[in-house]
Amino acid sequence: MKAAFLATLLTLATAVSAVPQYTKPGKPEKLPPKGFVYPKGRELFIDGKTFYFGGTNTYYLYYAAKQDIDALFADAKKLNVKVLRTWLFAEAARDYYWDKSEFSPVTPDTQEIVWFQRFNNNTKKIEYNDSTHTGLGRFDYVLESAKRHGIKIIPVFTNNWNNFGGIDWYLQSFNQSGHPVKWHTDFYTYKPVKDAYKNWVSHVINRKSKITGKKYKEDPTVFAWELANEPRCMGWGTPWSTPEPGLCDSGKNAKVIINWADEMSTYIKTLDPHHMVMVGDEGQFNRPNGPGYNMVWDDVWNGASGVDTEAFLRLKNIDVGTFHSYFDYSWVNDAYKYVEKGNAPGADLDPIFSNNTATWIKEHAAVGKKVGKPVIFEEIGVEYRVGTPGYNLTTDTRRVKNMPIFNKLVEDLGLAGSMYWQLNSKWVRSPDGWYNGTDYHAIFAHPVREQDKYANIIMGNHNKRMWAKNSKKN
Ligand SMILES: *[C@@H]1O[C@H](CO)[C@@H](O)[C@H](O)[C@H]1NC(C)=O
Ligand SMILES: *[C@@H]1O[C@H](CO)[C@@H](O)[C@H](O)[C@H]1NC(C)=O
Ligand SMILES: *[C@@H]1O[C@H](CO)[C@@H](O)[C@H](O)[C@H]1NC(C)=O
Ligand SMILES: *[C@@H]1O[C@H](CO)[C@@H](O)[C@H](O)[C@H]1NC(C)=O
Ligand SMILES: *[C@@H]1O[C@H](CO)[C@@H](O)[C@H](O)[C@H]1NC(C)=O
Ligand SMILES: *[C@@H]1O[C@H](CO)[C@@H](O)[C@H](O)[C@H]1NC(C)=O
Repeated sequence: MKAAFLATLLTLATAVSAVPQYTKPGKPEKLPPKGFVYPKGRELFIDGKTFYFGGTNTYYLYYAAKQDIDALFADAKKLNVKVLRTWLFAEAARDYYWDKSEFSPVTPDTQEIVWFQRFNNNTKKIEYNDSTHTGLGRFDYVLESAKRHGIKIIPVFTNNWNNFGGIDWYLQSFNQSGHPVKWHTDFYTYKPVKDAYKNWVSHVINRKSKITGKKYKEDPTVFAWELANEPRCMGWGTPWSTPEPGLCDSGKNAKVIINWADEMSTYIKTLDPHHMVMVGDEGQFNRPNGPGYNMVWDDVWNGASGVDTEAFLRLKNIDVGTFHSYFDYSWVNDAYKYVEKGNAPGADLDPIFSNNTATWIKEHAAVGKKVGKPVIFEEIGVEYRVGTPGYNLTTDTRRVKNMPIFNKLVEDLGLAGSMYWQLNSKWVRSPDGWYNGTDYHAIFAHPVREQDKYANIIMGNHNKRMWAKNSKKN
């Protein structure tokens, strides 16, 4: 999820990119150890039984207090959450980021900055912080608490967006150390930067938890590794956020991220053959003549963001496909088109948004079927808009009306899982507004506002039905 979006106007693509067809879906060559989730055809399995799930996202666990982590997982468990996606990146300590303004999280108790990687401008080297109080060691507790609550985790290795560092942080670091990096796409193509990313991935996968004594790669609490949150050819809001000219201005070069995803997923499997790997993309297509091509924000269909979700899914070492959708912003809905035409967004657009989100879900289910691999609806968010001018809402009718429609589609179309963005436990001490719920998609499991009373309608009931599919099938 990205807080702000750019309505970039992109040239319409006419070229279709030639995409390598790597995959042989079907039976896994070798079953993973007990408790690991694995794909077989369009379904997920665990210990020989199907694993349909409902889940959620809560991105900030690595800098939350232990009691808040426990409270969140306890609430998630009550809502039948079986998989939870969270950030495993914290690349920029405040003083090291390009304009020093980027938010760096701090520990809830001593208010020290939490960071996993930073660039040391004296040694010109990237350093890791493995401390259990201020560094990667904090994630040991996230995994252990998740396990205690019967929940599996999707850890995400970096961010396309500059929140907490991300891809542009790698680029800034290399630029500062005298490497000629300039473009967002250098992250996917420039060997020294790719090596730095691989080092991080290897560092995490081989970390031994101080709590369980197990390496992360041996821990079945990890559902799947995720390459990045929403990788695209372009970032947002830093000097490193534009793609190299010619690389992403049409669908013809959508290969840049596909090749990167192929290389990185293959690398991960050499370190850890048992966990699944996912890209973490938003699910854009590269098919200029696809349905709705003229209906929607263009890069959703023409590969212009460098994303081709079907090509990702066909990669040999990508096990599960992902897609995201925000009712109120980009992806497959007409929000930008309407706003660009001078219309204020408002309640009258909701039926159109609802229809387009349904189309988006159907298109992705169809891709899973065509390729023969599982696909999950990894981020879905609808803003409650209570009290927003133009909506006149005093109750959360938008989510209450729309989420059951989307949830039913997920169930009926055979998607392997879906995950609301995002679940919070309750108001907690917080260094930033996001942690405290100014994300207008958030559900608080302990209702403090009218719009928090519907957690079961929005996700809980659906999660329960998804889980019940397993007992029917097995
Ligand atoms: C990094 O160090 C160089 C000297 O090696 C200095 O010129 C530059 O201002 C420093 N950059 C930052 C962001 O501190
Ligand atoms: C980790 O970060 C904290 C807080 O910034 C710092 O005090 C500590 O020295 C760091 N640890 C390492 C190993 O760099
Ligand atoms: C990248 O490094 C070069 C050479 O040191 C410098 O001139 C340029 O300003 C840097 N780019 C940014 C965006 O800071
Ligand atoms: C939504 O889709 C249905 C079925 O395709 C169609 O009948 C209806 O007109 C659409 N509504 C809007 C607002 O686009
Ligand atoms: C919202 O309420 C105001 C005042 O009651 C009214 O003027 C306006 O037309 C309403 N807007 C909508 C979209 O219903
Ligand atoms: C979080 O937000 C709630 C509701 O606005 C407020 O009452 C509480 O004081 C906030 N907590 C912190 C730590 O900012």
